[in-house]
Amino acid sequence: RSHTLAVLPGDGVGPEVTRAALTVLDAAQERFGFSIERTEVPLGADHYLSTGELLPNDTVTALAHHDAILFGAIGSPRVAPGILERGIILALRGAMRQAINLRPVRLYPGVPTPISGLTPDRCDLVIVRENTEGAYVAQGSTVHRGTPAQVAVQESVNTWYAVERAVDFAYRLASVRRKRLTLCHKTNVLVEAGKLWTAVMESVGERYPDVETDYVHVDAMCMHLPVSPERFDVVVTDNLFGDIVTDLGAVLQGGLGVAASGNLNIDGTGTSMFEPIHGSAPDIAGRGWANPAGACLSLSLLLGHLGEGEAAAAVEAATAAVLAGMPAMAGKGMGASTSELGERIARAVTTG
Ligand code: NAI
Ligand code: MG
Repeated sequence: RSHTLAVLPGDGVGPEVTRAALTVLDAAQERFGFSIERTEVPLGADHYLSTGELLPNDTVTALAHHDAILFGAIGSPRVAPGILERGIILALRGAMRQAINLRPVRLYPGVPTPISGLTPDRCDLVIVRENTEGAYVAQGSTVHRGTPAQVAVQESVNTWYAVERAVDFAYRLASVRRKRLTLCHKTNVLVEAGKLWTAVMESVGERYPDVETDYVHVDAMCMHLPVSPERFDVVVTDNLFGDIVTDLGAVLQGGLGVAASGNLNIDGTGTSMFEPIHGSAPDIAGRGWANPAGACLSLSLLLGHLGEGEAAAAVEAATAAVLAGMPAMAGKGMGASTSELGERIARAVTTG
């Protein structure tokens, strides 16, 4: 088996955690006997400041010809906020038609969680976030700008096409897990969008009669998720609500350093991208204080996506094993540097 991988280390701690994940990938290839041809793509602050380029067209074309993308993080205090994030990350999600944002929320044994009494057996769910529309279409208008009469309208677009795509994906995922799908929305207030989401849930549900469904308002979700995460298996939600509740999910899991994600293309018109959910963490960059677990767990998702299921499982198990021995999930308190942790995880992959 052979695959092609584009590696986008990015800025700040992005290259540090990506390097650690690639060490783990070396070990996985060695043990499971597949090959991955890697192309490093220098997108991010340095590239932008030296060339003025964010996401050149030929880079997009090149990425489209890879089987997967491993992404670190982008963002720099040297560039005005939003330029790199919108110009590279959001642009990539659009260009690669990454319809789904997949966020497993899993608490691994031994990881300190701020939610008291939460145990790993109670925290194993996946949040499926629609990744292309909702309030994130960036459409709207402002009148009387700069005056006390200013009015800003920010639109949320919900198409049957994109919602059905996300909901169908979520049903399919639930049908191979614990067969429970929860719609998270605010249908009582956002009634137009709410009716569409509810109707899509019902319509698609006819194809998945063995999946049980329920509904939770997004505000109630912020209470249920920390208090009783065991009631969720797969949660499907829109772009904005998904952005918010997945960060809450990361809190349950022990913090930003351990949370992984996939931006999935599911119709073959682009390339899926896997990334830790954290940013470039300029406050700790260059010190070896970034936890590489989120990047390694993202690598595990990537391997599963490429059909390397055994390697995916081994990387997840190895990361969980190393996490279990760490006194803290970030900074000096981790007890080892980013690269040392990467080597430990790689060794755990090798020894099984
Ligand atoms: P951040 O996620 O970079 O950092 C937030 C806090 O978490 C910081 O205290 C940081 O030290 C800590 N942290 C982050 N990753 C960690 C890791 N692996 N291990 C241990 N601790 C970790 O978010 P922040 O500070 O709001 O943003 C910094 C830059 O990153 C900005 O330019 C922002 O726009 C960008 N960003 C990029 C993202 C991406 O590339 N997908 C996602 C989020 C933010
Ligand atoms: Mg976010």
